[in-house]
Amino acid sequence: MRDFTQTKALFQMPADMIYLDGNSLGPLPRAAAARIHDCVTREWGEMVITGWNRAGWMAQPTTYADRIGRLIGAEPGHTVLGDTLSVKVYQALAAALDLVPDRRVILTDSGNFPSDIYMAEGLIKSLDRGYDLRVVAPEDVADHIDSDLAVLMLTQVDYRTGRMHDMAALTQKAHDAGAITIWDLAHSAGALPVDVAGCGADFAVGCTYKYLNGGPGAPAFIYVAPAISTAASLPYRAGLAMPPLSRSRRATGPAPGSNGCASARRRCCNSPHSMPRSTSGTRSTCTISARPPSH
Ligand SMILES: Cc1ncc(COP(=O)(O)O)c(C=O)c1O
Repeated sequence: MRDFTQTKALFQMPADMIYLDGNSLGPLPRAAAARIHDCVTREWGEMVITGWNRAGWMAQPTTYADRIGRLIGAEPGHTVLGDTLSVKVYQALAAALDLVPDRRVILTDSGNFPSDIYMAEGLIKSLDRGYDLRVVAPEDVADHIDSDLAVLMLTQVDYRTGRMHDMAALTQKAHDAGAITIWDLAHSAGALPVDVAGCGADFAVGCTYKYLNGGPGAPAFIYVAPAISTAASLPYRAGLAMPPLSRSRRATGPAPGSNGCASARRRCCNSPHSMPRSTSGTRSTCTISARPPSH
């Protein structure tokens, strides 16, 4: 919705407040309270266990994710909701490193969100394979992409400065060098047009509690490009990752089914976050720009 007054009317805001903190927590959509009430009283209260299927909770990691997928230019069936953004960063990086097993350099920038860098440091430590995490100034990223690079891991928009990386150009340069790309869209998904497929991004991750207005505790999302979808193996698969009849015992093979949704489900570590995600099902907006206001 492009009419700001109409868009603003969809949200409950404290009186006399100009809210510019959507980069941390998006405001409450007016429709959310009724939706949560319905989820609690009718779906959970009356359906109990049958709600997993009758209320559609089980399908939500992919159905709602495909709505986010449309906002970020993803192909249907290649985005999934679940876990936290930090977990998704960890999973994407682990899977990306496995796709380029002969390389050891991970490149990011000093404007990246600290927890993304902490996740990379933690993964490097636990893998103990001699990975080298290079943190350079944002404007120097392109100059550090070379044939040693395994993974380029960046946050597209720096919420502190509004600086936005050129996703298409950096992805192309990384691919020309034989590297894999991971884009953190926490400050771009829902705030500005994003085109992961058009840019050729390999992995993209983001959260739904900022510009997607999912509320505190709302789940994260991950996109895995179709070209690497089969090869990319994300660690910590559980719950939805298992074939339905094998959830109670260890399953080593892929979940059955070769369509996008079945493989996307293998990227969840959790059962559906049905209640917080119920608010994500309300309208997503672009009310607040990731860039600082110009006046
Ligand atoms: C760019 C970016 N990446 C990662 C995170 C970490 O998200 P979470 O704490 O939900 O895992 C945040 C949180 O604000 C963020 O803004």
